Amino acid sequence: CMHVLVPKTRKEIFETLIKGLQRLEYRGYDSAGVAIDGNNHEVKERHIQLVKKKGKVKALDEELYKQDSMDLKVEFETHFGIAHTRWATHGVPNAVNSHPQRSDKDNEFVVIHNGIITNYKDLRKFLESKGYEFESETDTETIAKLIKYVFDNRETEDITFSTLVERVIQQLEGAFALVFKSIHYPGEAVATRRGSPLLIGVRSKYKLSTEQIPVLYRTCNIENVKNICKTRMKRLDSSTCLHAVGDKAVEFFFASDASAIIEHTNRVIFLEDDDIAAVADGKLSIHRVKRSASDDPSRAIQTLQMELQQIMKGNFSAFMQKEIFEQPESVFNTMRGRVNFETNTVLLGGLKDHLKEIRRCRRLIVIGCGTSYHAAVATRQVLEELTELPVMVELASDFLDRNTPVFRDDVCFFISQSGETADTLLALRYCKDRGALTVGVTNTVGSSISRETDCGVHINAGPEIGVASTKAYTSQFISLVMFGLMMSEDRISLQNRRHEIIRGLKSLPELIKEVLSLDEKIHDLALELYTQRSLLVMGRGYNYATCLEGALKIKEITYMHSEGILAGELKHGPLALIDKQMPVIMVIMKDPCFAKCQNALQQVTARQGRPIILCSKDDTESSKFAYKTIELPHTVDCLQGILSVIPLQLLSFHLAVLRGYDVDFPRNLAKSVTVE
Ligand code: F6R
Repeated sequence: CMHVLVPKTRKEIFETLIKGLQRLEYRGYDSAGVAIDGNNHEVKERHIQLVKKKGKVKALDEELYKQDSMDLKVEFETHFGIAHTRWATHGVPNAVNSHPQRSDKDNEFVVIHNGIITNYKDLRKFLESKGYEFESETDTETIAKLIKYVFDNRETEDITFSTLVERVIQQLEGAFALVFKSIHYPGEAVATRRGSPLLIGVRSKYKLSTEQIPVLYRTCNIENVKNICKTRMKRLDSSTCLHAVGDKAVEFFFASDASAIIEHTNRVIFLEDDDIAAVADGKLSIHRVKRSASDDPSRAIQTLQMELQQIMKGNFSAFMQKEIFEQPESVFNTMRGRVNFETNTVLLGGLKDHLKEIRRCRRLIVIGCGTSYHAAVATRQVLEELTELPVMVELASDFLDRNTPVFRDDVCFFISQSGETADTLLALRYCKDRGALTVGVTNTVGSSISRETDCGVHINAGPEIGVASTKAYTSQFISLVMFGLMMSEDRISLQNRRHEIIRGLKSLPELIKEVLSLDEKIHDLALELYTQRSLLVMGRGYNYATCLEGALKIKEITYMHSEGILAGELKHGPLALIDKQMPVIMVIMKDPCFAKCQNALQQVTARQGRPIILCSKDDTESSKFAYKTIELPHTVDCLQGILSVIPLQLLSFHLAVLRGYDVDFPRNLAKSVTVE
């Protein structure tokens, strides 16, 4: 959503909102909606027009232009529009359930929401008992009705918009990022968050009044209370808000992700949980009821490094494909400035101050979901070897379900591309409450996980838009290996091994290019496999994670059944699946598990299985028994998983395209899973 103080036509407003939604569509996309100031010239500021549509943003875009009541040339001096793309949590995807949700038929208050309200049933019951009628099945509609209830029952006429929002969020449980618009506060915007991300982009050609916005605390200063409650925002003095000097035009963009706004500005403010940000008369102010966890009395304007081109598809047919092919650069960027290939040292700036404490810990717990969890599985062995510590790898949801014991002398890593995954975030808070040191490994600057952890590593893979994670996995993998190398710097007995791994890291970008050149061959393989219903992926040791990750990629975008199988478990069950029809991919590399993998290969071929083998270039032994081989360049054993996963990323991509599916938008999935 956005707020603009420069004259804009209705068409420009729509275009900006739609473009922003399209950039965010990868996060969730079963319906979309928009609310902007009305069309009627006389009463335009007292009327909110709401357009919602099931399906992709494109459908909403078409609908907007279809509605002939809209005069696209109407110009607004000040305006504020909100738009939303939804991934259903409560209620089926349709126009009524999509956002903005409204307070009543006159659209007095409208709201957009990311997250989930866990006590919405109680709130809804209460509001229904007061005569409010609901039209949707969503949790969000309760928020729209609740703000109207607070407004209808206000004790003073001049209550501010942000006070209303403050009262509303005191009643909400769960996670949310919310932006409100109201006919009672024309041209004003109020936004708030708890548990779901929300940032504010700031654009102005002119000098800004401040680079640090002081946070007003309701309880700490009676003057503040007066300011917020009794006066309208325009009476706030310049030290409590942000505007362009000399009352020049400034634009504010609220978004859950920087990619929605990066074409307008790279200057952003990240809101903290329970911050309430309000824009009125072109001035932005932030207040909160309680002091924040970080206790920072101000919110700084930060400059993002992201560029528009990074979030465009370029010549590729899908973001996923682009991101697979970006891996030579993304892994290089992960290592850049951190690995010194001359001195064989690694420096992770975000961890260096905590290294002593980490070295003293009694175990490492590495926690994530989906692909991020696989990055933990992939690096567990090398972490155990280099840190000489026990390493537990955990799926965040299961870790919480088990109430896993965590102690003050544990170090807990949270791996997350988005930095917003609810399960991982809850696990982080769980570990923090128990006094463990928390380390974030994320790809998103300013994300909740990167802010709430004690320290961390930014994987620097660049924005990942495709729902199926690819380049984030290889960069997470490398980040964890770099951590192991940093921990083992003064272990004399490990020096040779460290040097071998560092040499391996150096040659990775080139070797990845070599693997990517197999694309055509993998496409041919996909042509043979795409009509199959099932695909098994088998391996062990360093490459077990490759099998889990490859199978996840296949199932999530091709909708084929696919299973990653630990080859050591073959004879304990999965062998029963093998016959001459069942397609099996085996990952067999020249590493300490090679001989054991050969056994598995024999077991498969003895049952007429026809394995497709991912193997090393010089492996003449495995190829004798293969139905087909994909030959990969060789690297040091603990990094081989980076090379062996790429053919499976490519295979899943080609299978999905051949099966006619939209690779970047797999059904039922969203990029950022901010609900439990
Ligand atoms: C799979 C995939 C998911 C995510 C998982 C965690 O391709 O993308 O399995 O890996 O939802 O997400 P993050 O890493 O953002 O915490």
